Amino acid sequence: MRTEVCIIGGGPSGLLIGQLLHRAGIATTIIERQSREHVLGRIRAGVLENGTCNMLEEAGVGDRLAREGFEHEGAFIAAAGRKFRIDFKHYTKKNVTVYGQTELTADLYCARDSAGLNTIHNVEGVILHEVTSDTTYVTFVKDGYEQRIECDFIIGCDGFHGVSRPTIPTGVRKEFEQVYPFGWLGILSETPPVSEELIYANHERGFALCSMRNEKLSRYYVQTSLNDKVEHWSDKRFWEELKRRLPEEPADILVTGPSIEKSIAPLRSFICEPMQWGKLFLVGDAAHIVPPTGAKGLNLAVSDVHYLSKALISFYKGEEKYMINNYSAKALERVWKASRFSWWMTTTLHHFPDYGDFGQRMQEAEIAYLEGSRAAQAVLAENYVGLPY
Ligand code: APR
Ligand code: PHB
Repeated sequence: MRTEVCIIGGGPSGLLIGQLLHRAGIATTIIERQSREHVLGRIRAGVLENGTCNMLEEAGVGDRLAREGFEHEGAFIAAAGRKFRIDFKHYTKKNVTVYGQTELTADLYCARDSAGLNTIHNVEGVILHEVTSDTTYVTFVKDGYEQRIECDFIIGCDGFHGVSRPTIPTGVRKEFEQVYPFGWLGILSETPPVSEELIYANHERGFALCSMRNEKLSRYYVQTSLNDKVEHWSDKRFWEELKRRLPEEPADILVTGPSIEKSIAPLRSFICEPMQWGKLFLVGDAAHIVPPTGAKGLNLAVSDVHYLSKALISFYKGEEKYMINNYSAKALERVWKASRFSWWMTTTLHHFPDYGDFGQRMQEAEIAYLEGSRAAQAVLAENYVGLPY
């Protein structure tokens, strides 16, 4: 089989870049390890930057998002029993849109189907070959048979545990990582959200987040220790713990109900440099992971897609190779800035077991400063709505 661009991984990164390249007349094949149902069953964050929404529109998948997404012009920060609002619109003239990543992935699969594009699911044993030569190809096993795709370029969109990043030799690749000493326990419940806008809460018992998918579906998180297990958390225990970490007003009006999903995720910051090696480009979680506190994971994947799609489209138009050779530097510049913001949100809002009372008071002082300083609020707002591409 031959294609122009072979995309490894059919998550949001792979699907979106596939769509944009297709619209520019470039042939793509996506190979995905899991079934489509599995990919669509994953529950991830749901806050989209303005730039992300624009990219989705550019890819022709913005209609349902425009109809069903919820525009949020601000968010609340809570600490020491109080909460205050950061007005994104006021500081940046921009908003964010609440729209589940699961919905977005479904929209992208629909668009790929309508365009009749090739997506091969349930592949095993993916190997990248001749990545630094002109005879690049990918092999994999499907239904017991080995198959081979020859291509001009490979895009590694296969997430943190994929095969693309480890293909870059260790002498070339440098990885930067911080693993945080806690996780997030998240639940989805068919209850009305406690607040029209998100609440990020610092508390000495640990961080809490009130988020949502729509008027009838809420998403809540509490910080847990790393060795905690979902089985230790009955719904009753979860709701009690969440209420204890929120200021009185949201805690009193919180509507509780049975959870329809409950899971624990660890938190890490991770960046791989470079994001290109020969004919291979890394995009999204394959190259970097942010802790979810700033809601940047998907948005960063989309900014990678922005830089790489523009570069490949310019290459196929016969323009110079400068843009593709500059992809890694360009993407990493924004990745580091968004990682800094996610790290700052995480360190400011979570309880760090080793920081003690001094650390807790420092965090409260930082949040009190944020409450009283327009400059500090503008910094948060500018980063939260997304730095420009
Ligand atoms: N071969 C083929 N596919 C693979 C392989 C492999 N060896 N390894 C992993 N995959 C697939 C996974 O099954 C998954 O569907 O690659 C896909 C990667 O998708 P994601 O992990 O969702 O990563 P990405 O598409 O970069 O999405 C960006 O933003 O909100 C964050 O982490 C969140 O997924 C989100 C990300
Ligand atoms: C979510 O709704 O799942 C969500 C929202 C904001 C975050 C992280 C997760 O920062």
